[in-house]
Amino acid sequence: MRKLVLAVAGAAALGLGAAWAQEASQPLPDEHWSFDGIFGTYDRAELQRGFQVYTQVCAACHALEHLLYADLGGPNGLGYSEAEVKAIAAQAQVTDGPNDQGEMFQRPGRPSDPFARPFANDKAARAANNGALPPDLSLIVKAREGGPQYVYGVLTGYREPPPGVKMGQGMNYNLQFPGHQIAMPQPLRDDSVTYADGTKATLQQEAHDVVAFLTWASEPTMEPRKRTGVKVFLFLLVATVCAYVVKRRIWASVH
Ligand code: HEC
Repeated sequence: MRKLVLAVAGAAALGLGAAWAQEASQPLPDEHWSFDGIFGTYDRAELQRGFQVYTQVCAACHALEHLLYADLGGPNGLGYSEAEVKAIAAQAQVTDGPNDQGEMFQRPGRPSDPFARPFANDKAARAANNGALPPDLSLIVKAREGGPQYVYGVLTGYREPPPGVKMGQGMNYNLQFPGHQIAMPQPLRDDSVTYADGTKATLQQEAHDVVAFLTWASEPTMEPRKRTGVKVFLFLLVATVCAYVVKRRIWASVH
């Protein structure tokens, strides 16, 4: 009986795997990232450009609910000074309250506030997006197989639907998105933003920068984590060599 259950489960898993593989037929892109590998770090200029793309384009639909404005500063931030972080936060309108009259009120954001959300709740978000929910982007890079490559692939994967493909109402054809029909209209094109640092804003550049920013958002402490990892590795290496030398000394008289 148990064997039978296992066999059925195995067959079902294989079947599902095959179906998924067929849906996500487009291979992942092969972008190179500054944060690749154990010595990889974030590129602050790139992160700041990506933050600009997020603020000017993606923030109209997507929240980043795990981030505070204060996260943009400090050693694990985007390289902004405290004054710059304050100015960025102050550009957002935040609901606070209740005040002495028992009413909620709007005020400019402070560094200790979470990022402002585009919609009051999920229903409002769906209503504005043809029934589809724009997911929170704080952890999207970690939540999708392929991580940054996948998100980059979606952002650069919009095409005209091939002849004969029937598209759902309000859906857009995308090479990377599983099933190829995505509710998000193409968010980025050449010159969707004008970069403050003068970098040419091609579609690929914008997608690369915003994906770097979202990768940082999903793990702002990646750099100290990697540094600790390298230190631990070096420590263990030295400790192993010491242990080996000591062992040889102790056993030297035995043989
Ligand atoms: C007009 C609203 C809108 C804008 C602007 C927008 N999105 Fe989306 N996005 C959506 C919706 C709606 C979905 C859900 C799509 C679906 O499930 O079919 C989505 C889904 C996504 C997904 C998830 C794909 C998946 O695998 O589930 C990612 C990643 C994403 N958006 C990134 C971005 C980025 C980055 C930007 C800015 C460059 C952006 N979006 C701008 C509406 C938007």
